[in-house]
Amino acid sequence: MAGPIRWGILGLGKIAHSFAKDLALVPDATLVAVASRDHSKAEAFAAEYGTGAAYGSYGQMLEDPAVDVVYIATPHTHHLPHSLEAMRAGKHVLCEKPMGINPEEVDALLTCAREEKVFFMEALWSRFNPALRDAVERVHSGEGGPVAYLKADFAFPALDRDPSGRLLNPNLAGGSLLDIGIYPVFLAYWVLGMPDAIRVSAKFHETGVEKQIAIVMEYPQAMALLYSGLSSHSEMRAEISCESGTFTIDPRWHETQGYSFTAEGPPVHHPFPKRGKGYTYEIEEVQRCLRKGRLESALWSHEDSRVLHGLLYEIRRMAGIHFPSEG
Ligand SMILES: NC(=O)c1ccc[n+]([C@@H]2O[C@H](COP(=O)([O-])OP(=O)(O)OC[C@H]3O[C@@H](n4cnc5c(N)ncnc54)[C@H](OP(=O)(O)O)[C@@H]3O)[C@@H](O)[C@H]2O)c1
Repeated sequence: MAGPIRWGILGLGKIAHSFAKDLALVPDATLVAVASRDHSKAEAFAAEYGTGAAYGSYGQMLEDPAVDVVYIATPHTHHLPHSLEAMRAGKHVLCEKPMGINPEEVDALLTCAREEKVFFMEALWSRFNPALRDAVERVHSGEGGPVAYLKADFAFPALDRDPSGRLLNPNLAGGSLLDIGIYPVFLAYWVLGMPDAIRVSAKFHETGVEKQIAIVMEYPQAMALLYSGLSSHSEMRAEISCESGTFTIDPRWHETQGYSFTAEGPPVHHPFPKRGKGYTYEIEEVQRCLRKGRLESALWSHEDSRVLHGLLYEIRRMAGIHFPSEG
């Protein structure tokens, strides 16, 4: 693929704005179209970011031949239909996390991507964060010895929000686990792989969504302690403690700008200033893959998403988290 890569954004909520700002920081990326269910919202968004086309329906944007790749930024329950529609229209897709709400949805998406021969990736942006990549590479190189303990959390207070909004609404697959708990589970999977056993404890909100969840993932020689919640803040400093050294990831660890390594002697800090909010790195990965004609990223592959969603579903099953859309 030569020339600038032409992006469209589908669904113009909160994250769409952050993404559009970061897209503007990536060389050879151009936002050519945006689509909302509300035409005036699309026009206002397009005017704010200097975008060419503003569509009042998602389908219209998917028919636009000027769009190479679509960023799906709708609520969790809508990722499946919107990504399928985009891929069937021949578009490459970067879909917000979680790409589906259960393994069946994930499989349907990966099958469609293969059949349509389009690029597809779940937007798990932390996988491309330069500081995290450096720290995890050092862990995997064995620099601190075998990992014994990993701790990661993600929480913010949200129980006073609109109960019909995507965080607290079971019909939109709300709750903390799929929204933010996905990050600690992802980190444990990235660093340690598949656990031997999982233990879970969860609390539920009056709307029926899970509001707090604590997860222990057990490995032959290591334990991962993971937490997500919508009841309070948490420190969000992750720790990967190896037998002869500890990597401490600066808060908020999932979008970090540095980490410290402590072995013998004082901690050594490694700063990694971010470009933009940090979505720039996943955008660059999509562009690298498109230019090389790849249909998936080697860094966050289809198989990685499949495994992560298998883990999340098992955690959901153990915690009794059920969504009405699943029947
Ligand atoms: N990577 C990150 O750091 C990050 C951060 C926040 C959120 N996210 C993810 O991004 C996705 C969107 O989150 P958000 O915070 O941007 O949500 P949001 O503010 O609620 O926006 C979602 C947008 O989806 C569209 N939509 C289509 N059908 C809808 C429906 N039935 N109900 C509500 N909205 C509908 C709407 O756009 P139109 O009105 O324009 O059609 C809406 O503005 C989620 O998957 C979330 O997990 C990722």
